[in-house]
Amino acid sequence: MLHLTAVDLKKTKIESLVIPVCEDKEIHDDKIISALIRDAMKIKEFKGDKGDEVAFYNLPGVKAVRVIFLGIGKFENIDLEALRSLVGKAVKIVIKKKLSEVFIAVPSAKKIKREMSSVLEAMLEGSYLGNHLFDKYKKDKKFKPVKKISFVVKPDELKKYNRISSQVTTVCQGTVLAREWVSMPPNDKTPERLARSMVSFARKENIKTTVLTEKKLKQMRFRTMLAVAAGSQNKPRMVILEYSPKGAKQLVALVGKGVTFDSGGINLKPSAALDEMKLDMSGAAAVAATLITVAKLKSKVKVIGVIPIVENMPSGSASRPGDIVKSYDGKTVEIGNTDAEGRLILIDAISYAVKKYKPQILIDIATLTGACVVALGEKIAGAFSFDDKLAEDIIFSGEKTHERCWRMPLPKDYKELLKSDFADLNNMSSTRYGGAITAALFLSEFVGDTRWAHIDIAGPAYAKKESAYCGAGGTGFGVRLLVDLLEKL
Ligand code: BES
Ligand code: MG
Ligand code: ZN
Repeated sequence: MLHLTAVDLKKTKIESLVIPVCEDKEIHDDKIISALIRDAMKIKEFKGDKGDEVAFYNLPGVKAVRVIFLGIGKFENIDLEALRSLVGKAVKIVIKKKLSEVFIAVPSAKKIKREMSSVLEAMLEGSYLGNHLFDKYKKDKKFKPVKKISFVVKPDELKKYNRISSQVTTVCQGTVLAREWVSMPPNDKTPERLARSMVSFARKENIKTTVLTEKKLKQMRFRTMLAVAAGSQNKPRMVILEYSPKGAKQLVALVGKGVTFDSGGINLKPSAALDEMKLDMSGAAAVAATLITVAKLKSKVKVIGVIPIVENMPSGSASRPGDIVKSYDGKTVEIGNTDAEGRLILIDAISYAVKKYKPQILIDIATLTGACVVALGEKIAGAFSFDDKLAEDIIFSGEKTHERCWRMPLPKDYKELLKSDFADLNNMSSTRYGGAITAALFLSEFVGDTRWAHIDIAGPAYAKKESAYCGAGGTGFGVRLLVDLLEKL
């Protein structure tokens, strides 16, 4: 569906051609394209401003039926994310016009002072992700994704960069898979069904899969996890995915929060906060999709995914505030608040991953706290780690993929706030401030001396409105980030 091409625009008949145009500088080095831009800029409505859009039909000089010019704004603002967004927008325009294919002109890497490989990577990503529509649940599907997206490059670039399209496709398929799981309504993704779906995708990539049912979870004493699941009719599952390439030197464990619906439990959430709580398994989705993606890419690191999946509901069998439960590693936890359930399922999964697999690195990813959204807004994740190198690597992958992470502190003295009068720990902090930090510190009690990082994606996991290359709903945040990180290790 995505590919590079070196068509002769003068000779080849095509349905539509999209040309990115910069406001104050020529960014193409193709004579035909430059001539078309000069003509387009003659009209008043089009200046190449960010968001400017104009279509011309049957222009002389090219065989394209329509040429769509899209403004990218000022030269100084052109970065990889601007390219991703522009191409995402281009694809959305083509979808709305109900066209089945599009050709997109690639700017000269030299002129925009970037590596050609990263320019192509960003543009291909924007197009693949912008082409995803979540309309499974609609009877009338008004729009269809574009069938074929071609990027116009020079003949010599074609061979050199051809690999990029399959690489980008694989990674973006991972993001889209995660998006679909997150957007899926909670009645269709009970723990049992979500686990089954994850396993069926993982098996196709020869990933070893294990699913622990409630009986097994009880036998193995995953009690803090079971305490969260206790209120729901829908029984919990733990999914374990193992990707073990031959000769791997490193083992990374990924743990993802899988709460298929977070009502808050007995500490029921207010109405306004409830309707989006199907998003609360976004960490789980990111972990499963990342494993599937690294397996497809044949990455060199061994990766284990440990994914606890539960539904957090209030009922006569639900855990109460004040209950004390013993975690997998033996520490007792007082449940100060049943809505702080993420940390309860994560600690059992983390302790298990540490004990059973002894990973060199453990990363957990979770829609853990509203406090993290208050701190960093809806587009940036919080990254917590005692390990400077690991934190740096995560921030760097975040910049590269534009799945941005901001490092947050882990002050040891804040651990005071998690003290319980009756148990080893309370799952609820004694103050309402710094909630993202205390949640992370709570997790840190269970990682031993494993190099560990925690990524709080409560903000960026879900989008209320569509944006340049993402529709409303699950964003798939974390997949591109983690795949980039794992490929680098
Ligand atoms: N799933 C929520 C966190 C969340 C909030 C995710 C908003 C996405 C958007 C989590 O389980 C939760 O309820 N956290 C509480 C913790 C509190 C009770 C200590 C919160 O953030 O209020
Ligand atoms: Mg909660
Ligand atoms: Zn939650």
